[in-house]
Amino acid sequence: MRGLRGKVAVIAGGGSGIGAATARRLAEEGAQVVIGDLFADAARSVASSIESTGGRATGLAFDVRDTTSVARLMQTAMDAYGRLDKLHVNAADMGAVREDPDAAEVSFELFDRTIAVNLRGHLLCTQQALPHLLRSGGGAIAYTTSESAYIGEPTRVAYAMSKSGVNALMRHVASRWGREGVRANAVAPGFTLTEESDRHLAPGLRAEFLAGVRGRRLVSPEDVAAAVAFLLSEDAASINGQVISVDGGRTMRP
Ligand SMILES: NC(=O)c1ccc[n+]([C@@H]2O[C@H](COP(=O)([O-])OP(=O)(O)OC[C@H]3O[C@@H](n4cnc5c(N)ncnc54)[C@H](O)[C@@H]3O)[C@@H](O)[C@H]2O)c1
Repeated sequence: MRGLRGKVAVIAGGGSGIGAATARRLAEEGAQVVIGDLFADAARSVASSIESTGGRATGLAFDVRDTTSVARLMQTAMDAYGRLDKLHVNAADMGAVREDPDAAEVSFELFDRTIAVNLRGHLLCTQQALPHLLRSGGGAIAYTTSESAYIGEPTRVAYAMSKSGVNALMRHVASRWGREGVRANAVAPGFTLTEESDRHLAPGLRAEFLAGVRGRRLVSPEDVAAAVAFLLSEDAASINGQVISVDGGRTMRP
């Protein structure tokens, strides 16, 4: 992919699953990556696996709910590599989503917990990264949203609302800062078989997910990472304000 070699990328929520796969893919494409995660060991372990294969990576603890922590994540890219060009905002509270009922039943504790990470956290990352991106002459942001934002599920109301908000934030950023050289897009994975989601998969659900896919296998974290890398690359120079589904054709939107 063009335009990733020598660039500096931050992955906000890159200690596992899709974020970890994105960090590895961006490093493979020649980017220097800063991986932040609530779990410092996970972030550091992804960074050392990248370094062990010749890449340049830094892993650190970060909490997407905390302004100082988010600012430190972006500043780490500046201190370690001198610039910030690409941002993948990926963190989500996947524990909350497993308990997320319908609008009649959802507690405001669960709603606030979901919004704090999945939506407010994405706005915080955007705010803290933008000055650095603009200083580097522009750049690109890719958010991880979800098909839940538009398929209308009977449960997971807080999760769906948080992801719809991410789509709105992404389009706002694309519109507001496009002329200043910042592109913003989102990937919307369908069910993605990460180590964690595999562990929590109820019996029979794998077959159900597979039946919904117009393809032969479930989505892998590497499939989503490839789409993120593309959106952050110069090959996507004219793609701005878009939600790209990575779901094996499970949903088909106009
Ligand atoms: N796996 C799927 O089926 C699927 C489908 C659609 C969308 N998604 C989205 O993909 C993204 C990644 O999900 P995943 O499946 O790889 O799960 P994951 O749990 O492996 O990844 C989420 C990461 O965010 C981190 N995180 C959580 N709270 C945080 C906080 N407060 N501060 C910093 N980091 C925090 C976690 O530690 C974790 O590393 C999420 O945005 C999720 O909503 C996943």
